[in-house]
Amino acid sequence: MILISNYKMFVFLKKNIMNLRKIAVITSGGDSPGMNAAIRAVVRSAYFYSIKCVGFISGYQGLIEDKFIKLNPRKVKNIIYRGGTILKTARSKDFYTKEGRLKAYKNYKKLKLDGIVIIGGEGSFNGAMIFNKEYNIPIIGIPGTIDNDIIGTDITIGYDTALNTAIEAIDKIRDTATSHNRLFFIEVMGRNSGYIALNTGIATGALNILMPEENYNITNLFKSIDKGNKEGKSSSIIIVSESKDTNLVYDIAEKTKIKYPKYDVKVSILGHIQRGGNPTCTDRVLASILGVHAVEALKKHKTNYMVGIKDNKIILTKLKDAIKKKSKIDKELIRIANIISF
Ligand code: F6P
Repeated sequence: MILISNYKMFVFLKKNIMNLRKIAVITSGGDSPGMNAAIRAVVRSAYFYSIKCVGFISGYQGLIEDKFIKLNPRKVKNIIYRGGTILKTARSKDFYTKEGRLKAYKNYKKLKLDGIVIIGGEGSFNGAMIFNKEYNIPIIGIPGTIDNDIIGTDITIGYDTALNTAIEAIDKIRDTATSHNRLFFIEVMGRNSGYIALNTGIATGALNILMPEENYNITNLFKSIDKGNKEGKSSSIIIVSESKDTNLVYDIAEKTKIKYPKYDVKVSILGHIQRGGNPTCTDRVLASILGVHAVEALKKHKTNYMVGIKDNKIILTKLKDAIKKKSKIDKELIRIANIISF
């Protein structure tokens, strides 16, 4: 009886009284604009709660190789507006090995850390879950990826900036398309999801948007071109979401050229320009909010969760649920695009 109540007391104390003393923050996976703002918010909120903070360099790889810097509020000055990540990032292959994770755990223990905040996307959260399962490390994730393919948050850090960078570039291509009467196929990023494609397509007045969620519907594309023809359209922008098949955009352009030989067809791949640049206001604010909430979640001894914003509310989602494929692309947006694009 006494033993049980002692144990209960221990659990109570651990949960409610034991303070976090030191945490780590890492950025992992592809960089995204706003990651620096999130690092800043984590470091400054840790300071606010008298928690020490270190940052590992190059994501999990830094944890494995014991490469870190001590962080304090002054170390993160003047970074809120900068793209990329001051902590650098990587997709660590070593962390996917048992030996790699053991090294990471030993370094974690050596530094007497009480938890980790991981800013990244699907792959990073996957690694976090494995680490947590093996070594019971308290972990909170912050969604940082331009792809917006994470469940449990309406938008991910970097997505808004990527959209704005993409539309700025596409608007410029539009000038050439119009001047030369050309049909431009523009490939945007998104890994396996069409969020960037659909939103940039609507925002730039694209004739058609090809996405994985719609199986890159080429029949629909040809229907749009025919409709555009009837309406006397002389130039067009078609957005193609990137595919595992890196030739896809060229194949689609080639098929179009064969079907419509009179068109001057061009392909333009926006590429990594979409990952860089100063974060927009939306991304800076989002990153700041999520950074503070991540530290507060760790303080409340939450673990294996991701912080996100849904319908203007901060919510915690289990990491395993966050990385389940984001359900379906917004059908309503597709409907809107179909009505107004020709
Ligand atoms: O996840 C972000 C992202 O930019 C994807 O949109 C893209 O498929 C991928 O990363 C590119 O990765 P890398 O920079 O390693 O080529």
